[in-house]
Amino acid sequence: MADLNDKTQDQAKKIVYSALKPTGDLQLGNYIGALKNMVRMQDDYNCVYMVADMHSITVDNVPADLRRRTYDFMALFLAIGLDPEKSILAVQSQVPEHAELAWVLNCYTQFGEASRMTQFKEKSAKAPENVNVGLFAYPTLMAADILLYQTDLVPIGKDQKQHLELARDIAQRFNTKYSPTFVIPDGIYPKQGAKIYNLLDPTAKMGKTDDNTNGVVFLLDDPDTIMRKFKRAVTDCDTDIRYDESKPGISNLITIYSVFTGTPVDAVEREFAGSSYADFKTKVGEAVVEYLRPIQARHHELVTDKKYLEEVMRNGAEKASRIAKRTLSKVYRKVGFVQLP
Ligand code: TYM
Repeated sequence: MADLNDKTQDQAKKIVYSALKPTGDLQLGNYIGALKNMVRMQDDYNCVYMVADMHSITVDNVPADLRRRTYDFMALFLAIGLDPEKSILAVQSQVPEHAELAWVLNCYTQFGEASRMTQFKEKSAKAPENVNVGLFAYPTLMAADILLYQTDLVPIGKDQKQHLELARDIAQRFNTKYSPTFVIPDGIYPKQGAKIYNLLDPTAKMGKTDDNTNGVVFLLDDPDTIMRKFKRAVTDCDTDIRYDESKPGISNLITIYSVFTGTPVDAVEREFAGSSYADFKTKVGEAVVEYLRPIQARHHELVTDKKYLEEVMRNGAEKASRIAKRTLSKVYRKVGFVQLP
């Protein structure tokens, strides 16, 4: 897709939006939960994908790291196959309409509903010294991201479902109060792996900023590190390689193996009937290493080419802004802001 404004048959395609925030490095859960679907959807939909850097400053953050990760995320977007010729790839803070719409949506979101957000509660508990207003308003910025593009579909992992539902509620409320303004977006979750768990604590979500990084496999981890993390993965005292909710550790590994080799879960169970947990963990590690090898090689080439990454960012921001402006101007008119002719 060159431009969502093009008067081409592209207009008939549904619109997809998703973003990832550069707080910590990308990990397997991000890939399985969101990035994989984002790549898959490029051919059939008009997609807008962003590095959500404005969301990153809601937690304590080192500016130089944020800057480095923003380039890094864009290079990884390209390395996994997101294509700037097909999709709009941009950095959130470079499209000012996101902050502008977020302010308006803040005024159509109740304090009570924002206080109920699980991630707000979790993050506030984790860093009680920095419960800032931005952290509280995080979901309204996310709603603005989505609603600006009249998005139909949002590929995300399960942990973002509550935020998406809030975005839907805000959109519906605004549409009812004024007149239809926003498309009501639907979440798209992967059939498998909507929630990938930490390898050392298979009851907790794998996260970019988990305290114990030994349970988190980062997309740019080197092969030895990946193998070491899988070999140490926590399982149970059973011996059966069988997907079962009462066996979260082994089930998580089966999901990861299934996704990275394209093998259905029942076939994985058959393939490893009689194998030991130790052998299986090695095989999962090897499958992930092989899958990531070409991605890491492409990332390595791209990440040093800042000029090219900036060109992708600039083009993406221009295209995104052109679309976002239309929604924003509609919203401004409806809430009563004077717009100069
Ligand atoms: P973020 O950066 O925490 O995560 C990016 C995406 O990865 C998914 N994900 C997972 N999926 C499965 N298992 C896991 N362990 C796992 N960990 C993360 C997340 O669900 C997400 O889809 N607020 C968002 C970023 C954002 C956004 C948006 C997303 C900003 N604006 C608009 C969609 C639409 C976030 O923090 O994701």
